[in-house]
Amino acid sequence: MSAGSGGLLLGDVFPNFEADTTIGHIRFHDFLGDSWGVLFSHPRDYTPVCTTELGRAAKLAPEFKKRNVRMIALSIDSVQDHFGWSKDINSYNCDEPTETLPFAIIADPKRDLAVKLGMLDPDEKDMDGMPVTARCVFIIGPDKKLKLSILYPATTGRNFDEILRVVDSLQLTAVHNVATPVDWKPGDRVMVPPTVPEESASKLYPCGVFTKELPSGKKYLRYTAQPK
Ligand code: BEZ
Repeated sequence: MSAGSGGLLLGDVFPNFEADTTIGHIRFHDFLGDSWGVLFSHPRDYTPVCTTELGRAAKLAPEFKKRNVRMIALSIDSVQDHFGWSKDINSYNCDEPTETLPFAIIADPKRDLAVKLGMLDPDEKDMDGMPVTARCVFIIGPDKKLKLSILYPATTGRNFDEILRVVDSLQLTAVHNVATPVDWKPGDRVMVPPTVPEESASKLYPCGVFTKELPSGKKYLRYTAQPK
């Protein structure tokens, strides 16, 4: 068995699963409402890398909120365990050790959802020899479709600044016909997609288009200012 997006492809409607969480029972699409969503999974509660990741996610929660992204975590333990672990995460962040985090955590003690969404990492086992969840990141658009999935093994913690950067790119490119180049950050120039014919480019991009000369003579490396 291999970890992956459970057969989910970019553009697929994300499963409208039901689950128990630290904010009660949810139906995923109702939970999302009209917002974007980010679902990030974790191998287990009370594990070191996961604690640092959830601590960082908690610190960045206002940034996700600003972008209208609802956050939700998943770990294959019970809601009760999640509450206890949340205290440790808040303490790791040097905050009051309360049971509340700025996002819900899904309980998946029977691994039903982990299996459905293709999240199990066959190379990482718990004390009982059972596979644990990989570090999946799913970003879901307001249309409930999967916009991005990234999969990390249990032994590599994620970079939540990168996840925010990706959200910025996804939200920009959802409303403007542009693409973001390597290491793009909000405010940087963006690229004109190859599907835009040369004749229409200057009309479509009123800030102008800069085309880089290349040895091939092909005019595909086209930049424009980031649309407002
Ligand atoms: C961790 O979160 O620290 C972890 C979990 C499973 C395997 C390796 C590390």
